[in-house]
Amino acid sequence: MPTIAVVNQKGGVGKTTVALGLAASAWSRGIDTLVLDLDPQGNATTGLGVWDPPFSIDQALAEERPGSIAGLRLASSWPDEPSPVRVPSVVAATPALAMREPQLLTDPIGANDRLALALQDVSHELVIIDCPPSLGLLTVNGLFAADRALIVTEPGAWASDGVSQILRTVERIASRRSADLRIAGVAVNRLGRTRDARYWNEQLRTDHGALVLDPIHLRAAVPEASASSLPIHALGARPGAAEAAAEFDHLFDTVVPELGSTPSQPDEVPHGV
Ligand SMILES: Nc1ncnc2c1ncn2[C@@H]1O[C@H](COP(=O)(O)OP(=O)(O)OP(=O)(O)O)[C@@H](O)[C@H]1O
Ligand SMILES: [Mg+2]
Repeated sequence: MPTIAVVNQKGGVGKTTVALGLAASAWSRGIDTLVLDLDPQGNATTGLGVWDPPFSIDQALAEERPGSIAGLRLASSWPDEPSPVRVPSVVAATPALAMREPQLLTDPIGANDRLALALQDVSHELVIIDCPPSLGLLTVNGLFAADRALIVTEPGAWASDGVSQILRTVERIASRRSADLRIAGVAVNRLGRTRDARYWNEQLRTDHGALVLDPIHLRAAVPEASASSLPIHALGARPGAAEAAAEFDHLFDTVVPELGSTPSQPDEVPHGV
């Protein structure tokens, strides 16, 4: 099951936006997706239209219980039409999650893999984990549960150093795990059309080469989708929405190629077969 941890220790770079954008691509293609919100701010939870959740991911981290995620899933309130869309499931976060991290630190045998354990035997086509802006035990649990890490950054000053730091962390975690964990790439988000933005984007490419993926541009439609708890693909004719949706679809195809690719058009089907 492809499981993407969306990470960066820096705040406000667009982790949640990219997690929701990928969930929106999956939604539009009818892919059965589970979103895990590991951030006490709960922005992915509300972006998926879940308010006042009766339970949350905190329960999964509180104890070592294999498969506990299964009982904590809620349905997003994203639209359930038109066909073939599929509404994602979500395991919510609430502010109480902030108290879990210091508690996890007191576990004498380490609490790195509680989320991985909680996901055991839970089956979806895709899992997306929105991580908080830190490299603490919540993010570490996200990286222990994932098979790929998607780093999100802005094209700004020091972004490249921040990416180097998280790359080192992911590599350290990968070396301690028995299962695979690989870097899916660096998604450059909120790329504006200024010379400055282009400069920092080039800097990222110079420093991190082929890891740097095609960017997601700065567009007013993107925060509008999150604020209205809608997938970007459902914003209709709102200026920029279709372009943003296309960029997230392209990112989706790059990050989860095994689920990606646009369905073939009828006129692309070879004749005579
Ligand atoms: N491509 C974009 N175009 C316009 N606005 C964007 C874009 N991406 C993100 N934003 C806005 O930037 C702000 C920060 O984005 P977001 O909350 O996704 O970042 P984050 O990394 O998850 O933050 P945190 O570290 O606090 O969890 C939000 O207001 C979001 O709507
Ligand atoms: Mg966030």
